[in-house]
Amino acid sequence: MEATLSTSRAPFTDPALIRGPLYATAHRLAQRTRALHRAKTTGADATTTITTLAATTNPFPDRLADIGCGRGTTTVGLARQYPSAAIVAVDQSPALLAVVADRLRAQNREALLVTADFHRLHGIVADIDLAVAGFCLYHSAHPEQALAEIARCLTPGGSIIVTTKSANSYHEIDTALATADLDPGVPQRPSLYQSFHTDNAESVLTMAGLVLDRRVDQQHTFRFADADHLADYVATCPKYQLGPELTADSKALAAALRDRFPDCAVTATSTVTYLVARRR
Ligand SMILES: C[S@@+](CC[C@H](N)C(=O)[O-])C[C@H]1O[C@@H](n2cnc3c(N)ncnc32)[C@H](O)[C@@H]1O
Repeated sequence: MEATLSTSRAPFTDPALIRGPLYATAHRLAQRTRALHRAKTTGADATTTITTLAATTNPFPDRLADIGCGRGTTTVGLARQYPSAAIVAVDQSPALLAVVADRLRAQNREALLVTADFHRLHGIVADIDLAVAGFCLYHSAHPEQALAEIARCLTPGGSIIVTTKSANSYHEIDTALATADLDPGVPQRPSLYQSFHTDNAESVLTMAGLVLDRRVDQQHTFRFADADHLADYVATCPKYQLGPELTADSKALAAALRDRFPDCAVTATSTVTYLVARRR
């Protein structure tokens, strides 16, 4: 992992980090997702929750969009659920869109792949009956502007499913790293999710001119049982300032964790929020 990951005060809304070390390749996102999935002990699967909400929101959409689609886990779930719908997958990372294309091809599906910034979709994406913006709006310093832009891509009465996390997600890991003196300043740093989180998501949606139809909050728990597992997650998290020698090398990080923090087990929590909204 590159040292530049850990130098910004607000890494999740830093355009250079978002376009660079966070998402220029699929590597960090895949490692982070793997580490979190392996640790998860309670909490429903996000793709299952989104596709279930989608089915009740619009059982027969003609055209769907997955905005900020990442590696396409939700895109594939939507493609399976809606075999005859046209699918538009939007992300500003060409490397991630290439992964989405491969995963859809493996399902004998195709999508219109759009490399675009979700703040600027006018003339690029239109006539969407159902959009999903999963775990991506916290990368915008102005999520109300991004949401308003996505809303303009919807057909009148079209719907959007938005997901985010609580601002204090995984704070138990921050406390563990601070207590072990590996990153003493971390509890004072702002949340990665500060621009768009469980507590402000509804008001941001309203500012964007959308009408809320439904809200679901789910509690998730993660158990990191040993230093190697914890290091796999910590190395992908741009909130931590651990020094390049640890950030670049998971094994060195695991050894430092073991050394400073002999019982490396940590239980972490996060609230995941799903909002279903409609264009007026
Ligand atoms: C945490 S990933 C979420 C991926 C996927 N939606 C999921 O739920 O697994 C965030 C994604 O948002 C994308 N992203 C961040 N800022 C963006 C922007 N301004 N425009 C378009 N995509 C953006 C990133 O490239 C990344 O793929």
